[in-house]
Amino acid sequence: MSLFQQIFRRKSVDDAIASAAHTDEHGGSLQKTLGVLDLTALGIAAIIGAGIFSTIGTASYNGGPAVVFLFIFTALACGFAAFAYAEFASMLPVSGSAYTYSYVAFGELMAWIIGWALIMEYAVGNITVAVSWSSYFTSLCESAGWHIADWATIDYVSAKEGFETANGLLKAGTSMSELTSSQLEAYKAWTGASQIGPLRIILDIPAMVMSILITALVYIGIRETKTAGNLMVLLKMTVVVAVIIVGAFYVDTANWHPFVPNGFGGVMAGVSSVFFAYIGFDALSTTAEECKNPQRDLPRAMVYAIIICTILYIIIALVLTGMVNYKELDVNDPLAFVFERINLKWFSGVIAVSAVFAMAGVFLVFQLGQPLFG
Ligand code: ALA
Repeated sequence: MSLFQQIFRRKSVDDAIASAAHTDEHGGSLQKTLGVLDLTALGIAAIIGAGIFSTIGTASYNGGPAVVFLFIFTALACGFAAFAYAEFASMLPVSGSAYTYSYVAFGELMAWIIGWALIMEYAVGNITVAVSWSSYFTSLCESAGWHIADWATIDYVSAKEGFETANGLLKAGTSMSELTSSQLEAYKAWTGASQIGPLRIILDIPAMVMSILITALVYIGIRETKTAGNLMVLLKMTVVVAVIIVGAFYVDTANWHPFVPNGFGGVMAGVSSVFFAYIGFDALSTTAEECKNPQRDLPRAMVYAIIICTILYIIIALVLTGMVNYKELDVNDPLAFVFERINLKWFSGVIAVSAVFAMAGVFLVFQLGQPLFG
């Protein structure tokens, strides 16, 4: 076989299904136990994470209350992708997700590229999760009266870029109190950091330590991971619902005017964060082997999970932008921030503690996904 034939050789649908049937260590196949309800719950668990806990802050800052439209546009785009995934998953009810589909459709080279892309998706996603986790952890320490040095809670590039922006604004006459919290944080980190020659010592120590600890947990064992994961899913759903219910009482509809302060461009500026908030529905396709009826249940579960998350995301965005002016939301811990801002400090603390555990759960699932999906 020539090299060209080798890198483009494809698996047939029958081969892919047959080899999956022998993956079980006892020579059997996986039990088909998952119905549409289980799948929808799994989908929601995989979708809700750092997107809603953190990146929604910047998206709302850019788009104002109209960021809700971005959630709808993104949900539509994800809906189409979900149908494509569901179509593949029902034709090829085996694990491996996009890797297996591309092996059958395009051959070995493309599957290799997609496999690496999947690993990157989880690794890069986890960078965002770790950074958001660190923000909640830092604000929690702050409310307990323990200040971690600014240079130890931010990454080098964000500190440098934030400092340059803040410095430019200060030189142009903006006062220190007019800077956004993230600009101020970056400014303090950059100016307060020790230096070795031209290099400033700036690194996100909480994010680094958490990444090492969770990776160790994943390494220790899958059983422990699963129990911890389930508890954290429950916790993150509780946080989201609690923020909606309690926050609704503090909404001042005057904050929703103007609804589209920065035009269509402002709304679309948050597209990468909002898209990130939807990633996870694709992971459902990996359960196809364990579905009772993948052809019928997978497409339904993916669409139900996307619809439920879209409704939750829209309500959270309306609550956040209704509680404080959208211009204040350029923070990494918006769910805790808004309650601190309205002086409900104890509730902000509860949210920050829960978010610390819940986001560690998201990190754990992604870290686990590296070897499983990649
Ligand atoms: N949707 C996942 C999250 O928001 C990636 O954390």
